Amino acid sequence: MSALPNYHAARWEEPLVMELGRSGRRAQLVGAPIDAPAGAGFIPEAVRRTTPPQLPELTEFEVQRHYLHLSQMTLGMMGVNLFGTCTMKYNARLNEHIVARPWIAELHPGQNEETLQGTLEIIHSFDLILRELSGMAQFVFQPGGGADAAYTHACVTRAYHAARGELAQRDEVITTIQAHPCNAATAAAAGFKVVTLPIEEDGYASVEALEAAVSDRTAALMLNNPDDMGVYNPHIKRWVEIVHEAGALAFYDHANFNGVMGRLRARELGFDACMYMLHKTFGAPKGGGGPAVGAYGCSEELVGFLPRPLVRRDGDRYTIERDAPDSIGRVREYWGNVPVVTKAYAWTRAMGAAGIKQAADLSVLANNYMEKRLLAIRGITRSHPDATTPRLEMTRYSLETVTRETGITAFDVQNRMIDFGVDAFWLSHEPWLLPEPFTPEAGELWSKEDIDLWIDVLAHVIQEAYEDPELVKTAPHNQVIHQVDGSRVNEPGQWATTWRAHRRKTAAVV
Ligand SMILES: Cc1ncc(COP(=O)(O)O)c(C=O)c1O
Repeated sequence: MSALPNYHAARWEEPLVMELGRSGRRAQLVGAPIDAPAGAGFIPEAVRRTTPPQLPELTEFEVQRHYLHLSQMTLGMMGVNLFGTCTMKYNARLNEHIVARPWIAELHPGQNEETLQGTLEIIHSFDLILRELSGMAQFVFQPGGGADAAYTHACVTRAYHAARGELAQRDEVITTIQAHPCNAATAAAAGFKVVTLPIEEDGYASVEALEAAVSDRTAALMLNNPDDMGVYNPHIKRWVEIVHEAGALAFYDHANFNGVMGRLRARELGFDACMYMLHKTFGAPKGGGGPAVGAYGCSEELVGFLPRPLVRRDGDRYTIERDAPDSIGRVREYWGNVPVVTKAYAWTRAMGAAGIKQAADLSVLANNYMEKRLLAIRGITRSHPDATTPRLEMTRYSLETVTRETGITAFDVQNRMIDFGVDAFWLSHEPWLLPEPFTPEAGELWSKEDIDLWIDVLAHVIQEAYEDPELVKTAPHNQVIHQVDGSRVNEPGQWATTWRAHRRKTAAVV
């Protein structure tokens, strides 16, 4: 049993930066332009300010102190973090330095391509690495996250069937109830009707259910495997065959790639397309939607439909293919988030092929170790207890028994765990088929001591749930903020996402 950390977060009564400052304070004094009268000629009249911006006036030290306080009050993601279904990884500082250098940070994709050769080489080289890992023919890095890559696939599916004159007939996308919800959502957003298969006792939908659902109306199968419960469908190759026999496409949401990296190739299972999350599996910081990249790869047959631009190699030069007649167009600007691609490239090069395989094996080992210990704790059960396929990189558990016996929910346990300086766990995507779910993922990163500490904290909190439920119910006690009144989230009159909105709502003059 690890010694549990005697932790308490820092707490400052820190005002908003907009509320700080005094008139005339400065961090840096910038001299007037030497050879031009102020503002003259450089900024068109129409866009010049007539009133000064409403900015707080502060010294550099005050700014530094303010943000230091805020960083001390951060709510987490710096403790032991086993945040599942997301493959949280340490983001190497070196990679942050690389992308902050001017030759990445200060480039513009609109520059002459002769001046972008190094960046284009990184994009192309990383494309080749992902081709090797997946067996696909081409990757595009434009999608801004996993869901965006799934949407790209839904659009490619539409274009593919339209080109064959079958789009009017093929209006259904098949997925499963435990696939990530972005698969169903993006198929629907692209105009498809979604057919959702239920899962069986063994944790995945049956081959028979798929056969019954597939028809000449099927446009695509879209799912992740392992699914959200961490269960790997061993019949997946047969699934892809069934879908192909019906003339449809098969898309592999490979967000849960960590346990099979270098061990399994989407194309060899027959898939026509797949996606990887560079902000999860490939070591770049997590952050869905905007700061992320969902790398979307496809077979030769679908390359014509991919968003453009694509980077091509021509001898020892790199060129940009800006358009293609059948392309679905852009899902995002330019080539996507190049710093994230660069970090992922740096991660793969640092790991090497053998290192990537080893990471996959370690993440499976860590999960199986954790599973053995967690299932020995009173009140913890796992989804599909009788499933014979071993879990790979993660397992979904349930605290239903604890809730029934003590009234303490998975949310309460999560709130109490962070009192010990470990980060909150992930519960489950919707729908919650398993009551009171939680889904930790150890990955390859954490030491055995860290994993043991996390498990010991959880075991301790569950013991508290049985012995002193009120203590757990009222947690967190040692955090920056205690229980948040969630009801205010549903009252737009109470919150503001910008300073201007805040001032408007508090009736101050804007
Ligand atoms: C299996 C799976 N697919 C897709 C996504 C969506 O990813 P993103 O948040 O980058 O859009 C996630 C994220 O949780 C996921 O776990």
